[in-house]
This record gives sequence, C-alpha cells and structure tokens, in this order.
Amino acid sequence: MGDNLINLKNQAIAQISEVRDLTELEQIRINLFGRNGKFNAISKEIAKVAIEEKKQFGITLNEVKNTLEELIQIKKNDLTNSARVWFDPTMPAKKNKLGKIHFVSRAIDEISSVFEKIGFSRVRYSEVEWDYFAFTALNFPVNHPARDDWETFFVDLPESKKYGSMLLTPHTSSGQIREMLSRQALPAGRQAPIRMINIAKCYRRQSDISHVPMFHQFEGLVVDSNINITNLKGTLDYFAKSFFGKNRETRLRPYHFQFTEPSFEVDISCNVCDGRGCKLCKEGWLEIGGAGMVHPNVLRNCKIDPNVYSGFAFGWGVERVAMMKSGLSVPDVRLLYSSDLRVLSQL
Ligand code: DAH
Repeated sequence: MGDNLINLKNQAIAQISEVRDLTELEQIRINLFGRNGKFNAISKEIAKVAIEEKKQFGITLNEVKNTLEELIQIKKNDLTNSARVWFDPTMPAKKNKLGKIHFVSRAIDEISSVFEKIGFSRVRYSEVEWDYFAFTALNFPVNHPARDDWETFFVDLPESKKYGSMLLTPHTSSGQIREMLSRQALPAGRQAPIRMINIAKCYRRQSDISHVPMFHQFEGLVVDSNINITNLKGTLDYFAKSFFGKNRETRLRPYHFQFTEPSFEVDISCNVCDGRGCKLCKEGWLEIGGAGMVHPNVLRNCKIDPNVYSGFAFGWGVERVAMMKSGLSVPDVRLLYSSDLRVLSQL
C-alpha cells in the first residue's frame, strides 16, 4: 500500500513539473483529488490495510496529499505569472529598418533638376522601339556596321514594313527623333526651341564587371536657330560645375557618331589632381560620354529644316556619372542592381 502511494507521489511530481499550461494542470489536479481521482480510490483502500499499519498509512497519505497540493499551487502561480502580458513602457522602441531611394534614382532626380534650372524639360519615351527610331532616322544606313556597336536586343516579332525590327532601346538617342517628330503637329515656326532631357533605361547585350544589360542614359537635345558649339560647351560646363563641383571643367575631343557632325567625346577635369594628371586619370581628364552637333540628315528625317535650325545633343550614362561623382568604386557594376542589402545600404 505504502509503495503505491510513493509511486503515485513520484509520478504526480514528474507530471506537475512538466505541465505547460493551466488547463493541463487542472486536469492533473482532478485526476488526483477529484471525486473519481486517485486519492479517493486510495483512501477507500484503507479498510484493507493491516490494523497496525493503518496509522502510518493515514499519516503518509496526508503528507503526500499536502505535498502534491502545494506543488500544484506553486506551479499554478508560475504559469499565471508567465502568462501575464509584460509591458514595460520605459523600454526603447523596436527600430524598423528604413529603406532609401536607390542610388541611381537619386542621380536621375539630381540630373533632372540641374537641367530643369536652365530650361530643359524632362521627357520619356517607350523602352520598346523600332529600328527606324533607334538607328535609321539617326543616320545609320540600313546594314551599316556601326549599328553593331550598340549590341542591341531585338524583339522576336514580325518586322514593321515602315520601321523595321522591334527592339529594346539601346540608347536614349531615339528620344531625339521622337521629340522632334512630336513637334510636327505644331504650327510652322513653333517646332523650336527644343530643350529636352530624356532620361531612360537602355538595354544592351553586355554583362560583365563594367556593363549591366539594363542601364540608364540621359540625353540632352537643344534645337533652335543659331545653335552652335559654344552653346554645347557652355551647357556641358554648366552641368559639370553644378553636378560635380564648381572647379570642374569639360573638354571636347573629336570623335565620330553617325547622328552628329561634328561629334565629340567629352572629358571632365579630374578632381583628384585638379587636372594636373594622376594615377586615376593619367593626363588630368576623365572620359564622360558623347556629344555633338545634330547631323543635318537627322534634322531632315524629323522634318526640321537644317537651313533654319541647328542643334546639339549629348548622351551619357547615369550610372557612370553618379559613380564618378560619389567617388564610389564598385568592383562589379552589376552589384548596383543586385538586391543585396549589404551593398545597397552603403550606396
Ligand atoms: N547614343 C550614344 C551612345 O549610346 C551617345 C551619344 C553620343 C549621344 C553623341 C548623343 C551624342 O546625343 O550627340 O553611345
């Protein structure tokens, strides 16, 4: 009999210590002390106990009962306290991670506002274009090898009889054609002045540490009467000083593009050595992008009379100027478009 009681006690202690919630604990209490519980059953057995052991049995029974009741009460207190919602108003608040505008989007905003200050209007045209606007109207003869420099993605759809293949814009220069043609509907003499800045995504079949297949360019176009190279140079200098800093200068080097004549490669004075020449720039200048005077054929293709109007244009990479400005040296330009927060949070 006594052994049964001790077993019961040990089992009950183990059960109580493992209990995880109040309902489970109550169930154990009922199993032990309820009307049909184990203690009632054992108490009834007292009749069978030998007379000389009865007293000791009674004492042990009471002790076990008291111990278990006490344990149940302690456990009950524990469970009730830990279930209470703990609120400490003096605890510091949880900080949410803040996102920020992407490095390239910030550069686009800044470039737009620099040009808007001198009367340029921001425009955007479709990223899916026809060959005609991306090449032919820009004075690339059909099948001309210069087209290959643009590593174009062609869209696998039937060609248009009028405009040729469908493609993803490999440069923002197609925006020049779109902008000039959009003026056609205006009354004669109102087609100019044009001062547009087209900032858009461009696509090329290139992916390596210095190329991403999707990148951005900003393209300026000015068309009016008496526009000449000094206007181009003045605009580029204004941009260089506003965007990069007031002691920066630009220089034009002769180059070739199909859609400009003359054409230039634009350099900006190096900020590390102030144009004296250093490890970064070699001779004091950093290459920044292309520019030129709009080719008369391009004006003609856009129904603008080159004998009345002239223009200049330039088209540069947003990622490139933004990295040059921030002094950021990204080991692989594709990281700019990865979703790796370790990189993005530093930009
Ligand atoms: N479209 C040229 C490119 O992607 C850049 C360019 C050069 C744009 C000269 C121009 C320009 O407007 O005049 O490489």
